[in-house]
Amino acid sequence: MRQHVNPLSRNFNKTERIPSLIEIFGDSKLNLHLDIGCASGDFLFDLALVNNSWNYLGIEIRERLVKTAKLKVREREIKNLYFVFGNAYNILRDVQCKVILENVKSISFNFPDPWFKKKHYKRRIIQPDFINILSKSLRRGSVIFIKTDVKELFDYMDCIISSNLNFENIDKNDFNYSKSYNPNNFKTNREKLVIVNKLDIFESIYIKT
Ligand SMILES: C[S@@+](CC[C@H](N)C(=O)[O-])C[C@H]1O[C@@H](n2cnc3c(N)ncnc32)[C@H](O)[C@@H]1O
Repeated sequence: MRQHVNPLSRNFNKTERIPSLIEIFGDSKLNLHLDIGCASGDFLFDLALVNNSWNYLGIEIRERLVKTAKLKVREREIKNLYFVFGNAYNILRDVQCKVILENVKSISFNFPDPWFKKKHYKRRIIQPDFINILSKSLRRGSVIFIKTDVKELFDYMDCIISSNLNFENIDKNDFNYSKSYNPNNFKTNREKLVIVNKLDIFESIYIKT
C-alpha cells in the first residue's frame, strides 16, 4: 500500500459528499469530533467503542483504508463512527460542509505527513487557507489538537494556527482531558510507534475564541 499520496493531485479534486449528521449517526446531537488523516481508523474505533456520548468522523485520503474502515463500521453496526475518503481540505471547504463544521466540537491532526522537502510544504495538510476555513465555520470554544514527532513540522503548523487571530493556544496542563473526545488517552498507531522508539512528541491545543 502506498504510504504517501500527493493530496494536490487532480485525482482528489472531486470529493465524496458527507451526508447530513442525521443520516450518518445514530444520535446526531452528540458531541462531534473530526480526525483528519485517520489512516486505517484504528484510533477512532478505539474511541467510538468506548465513548458513546461522542460521534467520530474520520477523513483519510487513501481510499482503500477508508473502504475497509467503512466495511468494519457496517459489520460491527457502530452508530457513532463514520469515515470519508478524500483530501480533507477539498472536502471541508465545500459549502455543504459548513453545517458539519458548525457542529464540530474538536478536530485532531495526529502525526500528519511531514513532506520534508521545502518544495513539498504545500502538500502539508495544515495551510493558512484551511485554517481560515475552520476559523470561519467552527463555533467559539471548539478545539484543534495537533501532534507530531517532527519538530520542524510542529513549528510550521503552530505558526499557521497561531497566526490566525481566531485561535488561541491553550496550556495542555489547564486542559480537562476527561471531558474531551479522548478521555482514556488512547494512542494512534503512529503515536504507539513513536513511543516505542522513544522519540519526542510535540503537541499543542488551540481554542476558537
Ligand atoms: C503519518 S499518517 C498518520 C496516521 C494517523 N493519524 C496516526 O497518527 O497514526 C498521516 C495520514 O494522513 C493522511 N493524509 C495526508 N494528507 C491528507 C489529506 N490532505 N486529507 C486526508 N488525509 C490525508 C495520509 O494518507 C495518512 O494516512
